[in-house]
Amino acid sequence: MQKVKTAVLVSGGGTNLQAILDAERSGKITNATIAAVISDRAEAYALRRAEQAGVEAVTIPFKELGRSEFERQLILALQERGIELIVLAGFMRILSADFTSRYPERILNIHPSLIPSFCGEGYYGLKVHRAALDYGVKVTGATVHFVNEVPDGGKIVAQKAVYIHSDDTPESLQKRVMREAEWIIFPEAIESVAGNIRRSK
Ligand code: GAR
Repeated sequence: MQKVKTAVLVSGGGTNLQAILDAERSGKITNATIAAVISDRAEAYALRRAEQAGVEAVTIPFKELGRSEFERQLILALQERGIELIVLAGFMRILSADFTSRYPERILNIHPSLIPSFCGEGYYGLKVHRAALDYGVKVTGATVHFVNEVPDGGKIVAQKAVYIHSDDTPESLQKRVMREAEWIIFPEAIESVAGNIRRSK
């Protein structure tokens, strides 16, 4: 059975993308093949990571195009490449209900908190960790979930908890959540979801 053709959508540094590429290379991901990395920003360092790994790197500039034209071009790019699974790895745009309804249980996202805490519109990147520290929670973590029309509202696939330290800053917490949770559970979740898709083909 053919591997599940997967596209990774990125906006920034791409450490989660790197963890996914490394997991494919080392044989921890066997059910999916990363066929393309698509960024909404040409400057995203994640695109360089894709090129270094020999994976096609594509930019569809959201700011210049606006959401509906961005999504139109994105759908074309996904169709042209026969993409079956979409992975949002630090992708900082919200996709419309029209887009998400085309790919039910075929879009995965990673969010840097334990959903339903510190999630939804406006909660992304360091803001999530700042909110957790401001609230004073002692445990946070990361969540992999399917993407539907509700921001961070789709079915949860995997979660991992991370303890907060009394001297944490948003930056130190972000790094620990990435290292102890995100980079571990995201490749595992992709392998598991792609396995289910593969068996159902
Ligand atoms: C990660 O912490 C990811 O969980 C978060 O942005 C960071 C991207 O880092 N995503 C969100 O906040 C989405 N709402 P990366 O580009 O190094 O993977």
